[in-house]
Amino acid sequence: MVSRVIPVDPFDLVIFGGTGDLAQRKILPALFRRFCAGQWADGVQIIGAARTKHDGATFRQVVAESLKTHASVQCKDAAALAAFLQCVDYVALDGGSDEGWSTLAAKLQPDRVRAFYFSVGPRLFGSLAERIQSHDLATEQTRIVVEKPFGHDLDSAKVLNATLATHFREKQIYRIDHYLGKETVQNLMAVRFGNMLFEPLWNSQYVDHIQITVAESVGIDGREEYYERAGAMRDMMQNHLMQLLCLIAMEPPAKFDPDAVRDEKLKVIRALDPVEPHHIVRGQFEGGGPSYRQIVGNPRSTTESYVALRAHISNWRWAGTPFYLRTGKRLVARSSVINVMFKDAPHSIFGEQAGRHANVLSIRLQPNEGITLKVTIKEPGQGGMRLVDVPLDMSFAEALGPENQEPPDAYERLVMDVIRGNQTLFMRGDEVEAAWAWTDPIIAGWQSSGDVPKPYESGSTGPGDAELLMKRDGRRWQGINP
Ligand SMILES: NC(=O)c1ccc[n+]([C@@H]2O[C@H](COP(=O)([O-])OP(=O)(O)OC[C@H]3O[C@@H](n4cnc5c(N)ncnc54)[C@H](OP(=O)(O)O)[C@@H]3O)[C@@H](O)[C@H]2O)c1
Repeated sequence: MVSRVIPVDPFDLVIFGGTGDLAQRKILPALFRRFCAGQWADGVQIIGAARTKHDGATFRQVVAESLKTHASVQCKDAAALAAFLQCVDYVALDGGSDEGWSTLAAKLQPDRVRAFYFSVGPRLFGSLAERIQSHDLATEQTRIVVEKPFGHDLDSAKVLNATLATHFREKQIYRIDHYLGKETVQNLMAVRFGNMLFEPLWNSQYVDHIQITVAESVGIDGREEYYERAGAMRDMMQNHLMQLLCLIAMEPPAKFDPDAVRDEKLKVIRALDPVEPHHIVRGQFEGGGPSYRQIVGNPRSTTESYVALRAHISNWRWAGTPFYLRTGKRLVARSSVINVMFKDAPHSIFGEQAGRHANVLSIRLQPNEGITLKVTIKEPGQGGMRLVDVPLDMSFAEALGPENQEPPDAYERLVMDVIRGNQTLFMRGDEVEAAWAWTDPIIAGWQSSGDVPKPYESGSTGPGDAELLMKRDGRRWQGINP
């Protein structure tokens, strides 16, 4: 079989926060998997940078330990592990002062892609951007990668965008939303724009409504302080769910090119109506284990660990088709899925007793990435015309063979896109600001009205009011299945 890996030229990647959780659990394992897949041969430098006083050797030990946990399959190849670790180096450096920067400067190679990954808390983003310039580390081929959260509200996002813009051009800034790196999310675009079948039906004439669910079974352990300030609206809705909404709802871009795609996504966000207060349900887990308030140590916390809302996009394509979005912690299962719920056939020739059988296109992001189309057929056998819904399953493993059993982690794709210079799957500054402009009034409304989230049981599907949100419209949520 022809290799699907397109090798990249040698590059330098500096990971600020190289000792941290994200770097050790996601970024470095992703790089190791790309290395094992043959993405590059020699000469690549991956430099961890943080305040901890490691040298190259002790950092490599730390990385090796992490890889054994987070890339265990590839680690079975000891030669590959050793070869990868030869690419890894470390500089002890303070992002908030000038300490260590000259050592970093001495390690970087000229005339190659030079990427700086900001895998640190957001308060350091400005300082890192400034120091990369003041220490003369930025070249024509320099890119910076910025992790979420990108701002806390519209004002802070504007300040951050402006700070980064004083040091880098927009073309050099890669704002990560790792949901966009998921194989199925890219497949969503392939399904929509690569087939004649779906796009003619992709509008309010044929689509009754769309459900986007990002359910997590985990809580907020280890992130209490951040989460208590953020809540589900800022942590998930403003970025991940908003990005999924954009990809589902956008017009076909003229080409699959970064600005063409991002222009279309931006139009969706700008066409979103303000959300009516009675179209939002906030929840906080309580019961079935330690409560949210116990975990954050704030008995009066009003931060939501769950939010569900009904959104409307005011344009010709979607007028009259509601989008229901929900996300929460400590729910019954970890499941991220987009369900496109088509309308019933206008007339049933099989009579009332055949029941209602609408088509549903389900795009599963996790677990078991794949796409399923529910279609109606005749139940086999005697006994008249009984109808039954069956799934047409396009799960990667079955369709594309065992090689695709486990799709690549989102970070593999995204980090390599940074090296290749492809911004299609990264958020542009104006997109982020538009998303905050839509989110801010919702949060301000809760604050001014003293809104208190509804309690829900850990391990449930969320507060009962979220079911009512649908029921009032004569609809119901699809199940949250592992
Ligand atoms: N973890 C995740 O799953 C995840 C997911 C999405 C986004 N993010 C975002 O990614 C970023 C990193 O998260 P994380 O979970 O990896 O945090 P973390 O585990 O707390 O790691 C923070 C890293 O920053 C380094 N650091 C702190 N202050 C520094 C300074 N002054 N100069 C240089 N390095 C400094 C720390 O190392 P030293 O103490 O040695 O300096 C450490 O390596 C955050 O913005 C977070 O919101 C994380």
